[in-house]
Amino acid sequence: MGRGAEDYVIVAEGLRKRYDGVEALRGVSFRVRRGEVFGLLGPNGAGKTTTVGILVTLVKPSGGRAVVAGHDVAREPWEVRKRIGVVFQEPTVDRDLTAWQNLYVHGRIYGLPRRVIEERSRELMELVGLEKAMHRPLRSYSGGMIRRFEIARALLTEPMVLFMDEPTVGLDPQARAKVWEVIEELKKRGVTVFLTTHYMEEAERLCDHIAIIDHGRIIAEGSPEELKSMVGGDTLYLVAETRLDAEKLLRIASGYGEARIAEDGRVVVLVARDAPRLLPRILEEARAVGARIVETRYVRPTLNDVFLMLTGRSLRDEEGGWRDWARLHLHARRG
Ligand SMILES: Nc1ncnc2c1ncn2[C@@H]1O[C@H](COP(=O)(O)OP(=O)(O)OP(=O)(O)O)[C@@H](O)[C@H]1O
Ligand SMILES: [Mg+2]
Repeated sequence: MGRGAEDYVIVAEGLRKRYDGVEALRGVSFRVRRGEVFGLLGPNGAGKTTTVGILVTLVKPSGGRAVVAGHDVAREPWEVRKRIGVVFQEPTVDRDLTAWQNLYVHGRIYGLPRRVIEERSRELMELVGLEKAMHRPLRSYSGGMIRRFEIARALLTEPMVLFMDEPTVGLDPQARAKVWEVIEELKKRGVTVFLTTHYMEEAERLCDHIAIIDHGRIIAEGSPEELKSMVGGDTLYLVAETRLDAEKLLRIASGYGEARIAEDGRVVVLVARDAPRLLPRILEEARAVGARIVETRYVRPTLNDVFLMLTGRSLRDEEGGWRDWARLHLHARRG
């Protein structure tokens, strides 16, 4: 059964953008369903802000078309603008004014009566956890507070879709977590969100659907689970006590997937699905044949692995976590 265009809040078809000499977008297509959090994930310069710019009617595409909230962005930009909220990559607030004054100006530009602005401002500032800071000048806000304020302001006009361009870039982990909580709350309330990010953890945690963009092209699309299943499985590391134990382990591991012994001769590496379920079975079989294991770890695929597989490059700025453990560990054992 097909879905009608009315089920989609955003339809982008073959979007292209050329800035003198630079092909920022080379045919970008995707659809965003009502009520979902949709993430455009990609590294610096991939074309995320350009895509947002076109969808919010501020950048004129060189080709393709987009319909947002039921209206064509090129032909009816004002109809689109009335129905969307936007949080830009760079803050766009007046820091000399208080939150309330910023909200009031924003509401008046959209023709909302004062009483409505007052009522919604109270509710929205509460939603983003800033109700006590309503009358403070934004100069006194932290970066994370400014971001949350901008989300509240973007919602003042009750938009059909909220756009956020890298909502947590530059925030410390605590401030980032607070912004995530706000987005999760919006998701519960059924607000349609379009966000861009280059943090895979952010996309994975918040998004129902993710399009991965690289060099102006969508290279993969799906739910976080669908995307990760493209990589083909978890990686298990079984550290054996001796080379002989490793040989025995290899025979066992080969029964479950693609297995090999790492260079140092004592680490068996197995790529297989569902490591958490598999590991106890392997341990049991190892015990049965007397193969001694001194340590085990497994690493599940991340969106970074998907990006790595498709482009040969890494999405992330910094490495960390289990994967590093495995890499360092193998290195140390080898040395
Ligand atoms: N106004 C402009 N004039 C010329 N080139 C531009 C302009 N805006 C963007 N570009 C180029 O287009 C490409 C895509 O840029 P865009 O800002 O859309 O990427 P992005 O994914 O948002 O990157 P970032 O993560 O750094 O915000 C880049 O190569 C960029 O240098
Ligand atoms: Mg950008």
